[in-house]
Amino acid sequence: MAPAAAKSIIDAAMSARAGNLARIVLPFLPKDGNVLDVGSGTGHNAAALRQSRPDLGFRECDIVDMHVVGGGADLIVDGRLPYDNSTFAAVTLFFMLQYPEDPLPLLREARRVMADGGHVIAAQTVCRGRVGRCALKLHEQVWGPVAYSVARTFRAVPDVSMACLTPRRWFSESEIKALFEAGGLEVRDTVRMTSSAAMYVDTVYLLQ
Ligand SMILES: C[S@@+](CC[C@H](N)C(=O)[O-])C[C@H]1O[C@@H](n2cnc3c(N)ncnc32)[C@H](O)[C@@H]1O
Repeated sequence: MAPAAAKSIIDAAMSARAGNLARIVLPFLPKDGNVLDVGSGTGHNAAALRQSRPDLGFRECDIVDMHVVGGGADLIVDGRLPYDNSTFAAVTLFFMLQYPEDPLPLLREARRVMADGGHVIAAQTVCRGRVGRCALKLHEQVWGPVAYSVARTFRAVPDVSMACLTPRRWFSESEIKALFEAGGLEVRDTVRMTSSAAMYVDTVYLLQ
């Protein structure tokens, strides 16, 4: 396959994934104000949300800038989000809480920059039982690096250190809820993106 064709297919797959997530998250977005996407990756998720809600202001931040769409990421240094308190009507954390050395300070930062009455919207894959945890671990440790290497080979993503894409933990539903609670956030709504009977399930949480 020609590299340009492969790159187009990868771009289309990343946009389709972001569109799917955006459809679920849209009802949780605020009426007005600014939205921050933390751990924004390639920028596709914020781009898909921006397309549906051009009236909202979107900012993105990450520990590296690997954006291929949108205006790029503000850099997070020493775990501090580079914004004033109470800046954002919503803060999104999509499939990224498994990466920081300790996700709790990051959650507290998300809460700090969230305005009064605002929300955090988190998407996370949660596993069921020991077999589910092993299956999720295998999926993230194998599929993640393979998908990134293929995308990088075809220049569909920039070259970044694998250190920021190395998962460190695999959450069950009760573990992720305990983390949210420790961060001072309460679950207000839950949407399963994939079959809840599966060993691991992509789940969106509305938190306040
Ligand atoms: C699997 S990618 C997910 C990207 C995007 N949220 C998505 O759903 O496509 C994980 C992201 O988390 C970011 N990340 C890793 N450690 C982080 C940290 N300590 N603080 C913020 N972002 C981090 C990575 O740089 C990467 O962009």
